[in-house]
Amino acid sequence: MKRYCYSLVILLVIYSSNLFAQQHMDTEILGNAESVTQQNNVLLIKTKEAEARVWVYSPTIIRVSISKEHSADSSFAVVKDPESTLNYKETATDITVSTSALTLHINKSPLRFDFSTADGKVLSEDDPRFGTNWQGTRVVNYRKLYKDERFIGLGEKTGNLDRRGSAYVNWNTDAPDHGPKTDPLYETFPFFVGLHNGLSYGLFFDNTHKSYFDFGASTDEQMSWFGADGGDMNYYFFGAQSVAQIIEDYTWLTGRMEMPPLWSLGYQQCRWSYMSAEEVLDIASKLREDKIPADVVYCDIDYMDHYKIFTWNKQTFPDPKGMIDKLKAMNFHLVTIVDPGIKVEDGYKQHDEGVAKGYFATYPDGEKYIGSVWPGRCYFPNFTDKAVRDWWGASFTALTEPGVEGFWNDMNEPAVWNQSIPWMVKFGKYYMPEIRNVYGMQMAEATYLGTKKILGNKRPFVLTRAAYSGTQRFSAVWTGDNSAYDAHMLLGQRLVNSLGITGMSLVGVDIGGFTGNPTPELMVRWNSLGVYTPMFRNHAAQGTNYREPWRWGKDNEAIIRKDIEQRYKLLPYIYSGYYQSHQTGLPLSRTLAIDYTQEDSIFSEHFQNQFMFGDAILVAPVESTKFNEDVYLPKGEWYRLSSGEKFVGGRIINAPAPLTDLPVFIKGSAIIPMQNLVQSTSEKGDGILKINVWYGSAANSFVYYEDDGSSYDYQKGVYYKRNISFDPAKNVISLSAVEGSFVSKYNKIELVLHGFKGHLKTFKVNGKDTKIWPNTGDGTDYSLFVNENKEIKIQY
Ligand code: NOJ
Repeated sequence: MKRYCYSLVILLVIYSSNLFAQQHMDTEILGNAESVTQQNNVLLIKTKEAEARVWVYSPTIIRVSISKEHSADSSFAVVKDPESTLNYKETATDITVSTSALTLHINKSPLRFDFSTADGKVLSEDDPRFGTNWQGTRVVNYRKLYKDERFIGLGEKTGNLDRRGSAYVNWNTDAPDHGPKTDPLYETFPFFVGLHNGLSYGLFFDNTHKSYFDFGASTDEQMSWFGADGGDMNYYFFGAQSVAQIIEDYTWLTGRMEMPPLWSLGYQQCRWSYMSAEEVLDIASKLREDKIPADVVYCDIDYMDHYKIFTWNKQTFPDPKGMIDKLKAMNFHLVTIVDPGIKVEDGYKQHDEGVAKGYFATYPDGEKYIGSVWPGRCYFPNFTDKAVRDWWGASFTALTEPGVEGFWNDMNEPAVWNQSIPWMVKFGKYYMPEIRNVYGMQMAEATYLGTKKILGNKRPFVLTRAAYSGTQRFSAVWTGDNSAYDAHMLLGQRLVNSLGITGMSLVGVDIGGFTGNPTPELMVRWNSLGVYTPMFRNHAAQGTNYREPWRWGKDNEAIIRKDIEQRYKLLPYIYSGYYQSHQTGLPLSRTLAIDYTQEDSIFSEHFQNQFMFGDAILVAPVESTKFNEDVYLPKGEWYRLSSGEKFVGGRIINAPAPLTDLPVFIKGSAIIPMQNLVQSTSEKGDGILKINVWYGSAANSFVYYEDDGSSYDYQKGVYYKRNISFDPAKNVISLSAVEGSFVSKYNKIELVLHGFKGHLKTFKVNGKDTKIWPNTGDGTDYSLFVNENKEIKIQY
């Protein structure tokens, strides 16, 4: 009996240790801190299994990287090094890293990382049981999920503004038939903002492998998690206490956009494809003839010879320079498409050069990888290699010499027909799974830097479909192949707003929907939303009905024209908005979660598509079948732009929404510089800059910015910048002295005052009595001219 008991115990011990070994093999845990050292500005914490490294990038940014075997410390996204000194205290059980804003509390056994504000409010913590762990090469971080926690961000992701209860995968994918719930799409931005208890934090998981985010989708409200198929648990934690500041910090880290060419902010007309030079010129002429303001026409893939990149079809585009010269004479700019796939064809320049230099992706045995796209069988440049990027960039002379200034990078997930690229395919030192998510961004970098070099001091315009965090430094993005129905229009707006959170300001959707045919109502409605879309491009797929403004009957064309005219009038405001993106990273289109984070209603499904266009304009997208709409106006004062009607916010209103009048509201105290109507951004107009101010009870200010719109001279101080402020408590509107050496294209400034009735008494400009006249019969709007580069103080 005794012997039997012993054997049972032994068996049990063997069984349970096997079980332990099994579990241990399946999920490898991080373990306990065994040594803590500081090396230069890095804190190194070793456990039996792994090593954690901690850096302080700034008072509000702490980086943690945990790995069993740290790979070389490089990043496609990050452009900054740590700028703050590491300050930490260690006890037997804990380590505390502190900055003036943020505290990272590290528990040693087991090793866990918890963040709080400097004054002790908990921002985000590792899940105490699981923290960071591995399954094979997969690395995952489990975090506590708070009861009221919301999540926004991740860039181009479908679903709701609040991502709580949803899960996502990052794996750049050609997604032609995507719907309002499809995931993944074309772009990867592994950065989100968490909100709870009136607090905010951000987290950027800088890992390019296929990655996963689960915001409490399947964890019974216990935890959220994110992870990747390979690489390190390498994240940046942002602790600033507002969404706007977190975006500033994220774009400080990953870079900001340069000033875009002004022409790219005008109306853009595209189609897959305008089939000949004649057709391209006809489209441009008709836009001018019909007085539809416009700046850009596109050539989609059919301008090429058998879809060979950097070639022209000699039959249909026999004289590219002649065509572009004619476009220029009509004040148009041309954008041409390029795909990454290089046709396998001896004698084709890019093919022969790329083969000779070994620039294409290969199988592990060195054989070149071939995938089929538009040109048929293709090789794929390894854009992760600088030499390849330089070569690619220099090839653009085939397009720039005849005069192209805009370069559309498509199919760069990269897309290949009917297959996904085998995992063993190598792009230089990287296997495909590690760099798929950055391939498009690297192509955009090559295109931007290459064309920038060729064009000298002229700004190129680059548009890419695939992207990764940091793409804002090189390119605009659009949301890929959308469809011509209302839910897609609303989805597009959420995608644009979400991309704004992740640093992408210059973003477009195919206005009208790429696939399918919009009804005239949808086309008109979508175009009116396009006015307030950062990049305003009408585009449609092969086989669909033509989409240009005159295809919808005279009445609809008139509405479309009027809306596009509004875009052109707003350009001084829009351009200043891009200056803000360039300076601070704040996007032009902003989900209300940026400025009105604490107002619950903005997250409701009904209101989640609303957004701010710049600092002062609130837009409520409305489906094409509805002619009035419930709109949530956040706390504050608002004016309906079309009627001047004033509202007190913090409530829902029912707004009339005929197709002629999208609900657009101006924030009280708003300052919006505008201009008179022009047919393109090359036109000078009447030389009057109209600075509109809407009366409100709060003080406000706006940075007005102007430069030549086309060169990099602004980086040498050749700009015109002034701060415009409005202070209702002091009855003062002032314009600061002009900063910079650029001479404004406007020779007069008109101050247009809205809603000032009852607030105007005497009127003095720099102490002198000045004439003011009413603009409207009801005496609510007034104008006066002020002309001075020095400070101007208007006392009313
Ligand atoms: C796919 C792109 O998403 C679309 O915009 C383009 O028109 C086609 N490729 C053809 O180039």
